[in-house]
Amino acid sequence: MDRIGVVGCGLMGSGIAEIAARAGGKVLVVEADAAAMERGLERIERSLARAVNSKKMSESEGAEVRANLSFSTDFSELADRELVVEAVAEDESVKLEVFRKIDAAVEDPHAILATNTSSIPIIKLAMATQRPQQVIGLHFFNPVPVLKLVELISSLLTSAETTARARDYATNFLGKRVITSPDRAGFVVNALLIPYLLSAIRMLESGFASPEDIDTGMVVGCAHPMGPLALTDLIGLDTTMAVAESLYEEFKEPHFAPPPLLSRMTQAGLLGRKSGQGFFAYRS
Ligand code: 3HC
Repeated sequence: MDRIGVVGCGLMGSGIAEIAARAGGKVLVVEADAAAMERGLERIERSLARAVNSKKMSESEGAEVRANLSFSTDFSELADRELVVEAVAEDESVKLEVFRKIDAAVEDPHAILATNTSSIPIIKLAMATQRPQQVIGLHFFNPVPVLKLVELISSLLTSAETTARARDYATNFLGKRVITSPDRAGFVVNALLIPYLLSAIRMLESGFASPEDIDTGMVVGCAHPMGPLALTDLIGLDTTMAVAESLYEEFKEPHFAPPPLLSRMTQAGLLGRKSGQGFFAYRS
């Protein structure tokens, strides 16, 4: 698969578009409007500049990646895509609408329609299309250019051929390490990670320890690359909240329930790195 579409160019979509273009694919990025497209383009530019500055990529390689990328606000331009990866906001009604639009636009009868959702059942998105056997979850991790993992999630209706082609693409084209998960909220990684992050937020909320000490404890004491509160800031408090809610809705287990502090901070727009303030402050 060489003609790739990525719908949504936020934190995750920009990373997915970048690695697909770096791997040599012709990537069309579709965004909702011109302003979102501009922000997505800037994100990719920043990441490429970082790779060039740190000598992981030459100037000419950077130029080749840029030449592999094109941008549009028109879904109909997805017509000739062989693989489309949806990476819009973690909101079920938005994703369902986007899947209907992708399904209507893509003409290749063998095309795979993938989603980077971290919390919405793949089957729900599949049923919004006329080709549920070609819908699959490809769940990437942030920062996408750095983290090697992809979770592969087949729904009850995903065909064996779709699963095999998507696995092959992620492994051999993108160079990712693939694990498989059933179509259950949280998949493998978030089902383990989110209760840990929520525990750290509860610890903070109860006054048990300071944000700095909670994070230092896990970085220095357990060699995690970052502490749970900084990681929640990286993921985004809104996304963490959405994943926790879907886990709680699916399993009704208290350790998946979002603590009030997370809800209030999300409602206040204190979303972490992307808003400049979460558990810690960030300069833009
Ligand atoms: N894009 C491209 N490259 C990046 C990057 C980005 N956004 N952020 C960091 N990097 C690269 C740097 O260039 C650097 O590469 P180098 O060592 O070859 O020069 C390397 O990553 C390390 O970066 P830094 O030195 O700037 O900073 P750190 O060493 O502190 O690493 C980190 C930053 C990569 C974010 C690291 O702290 C980390 O891996 N943290 C854990 C992240 C994590 O757990 N993510 C999973 C979140 S869960 C998720 O995404 C699922 C969702 O559904 C919720």
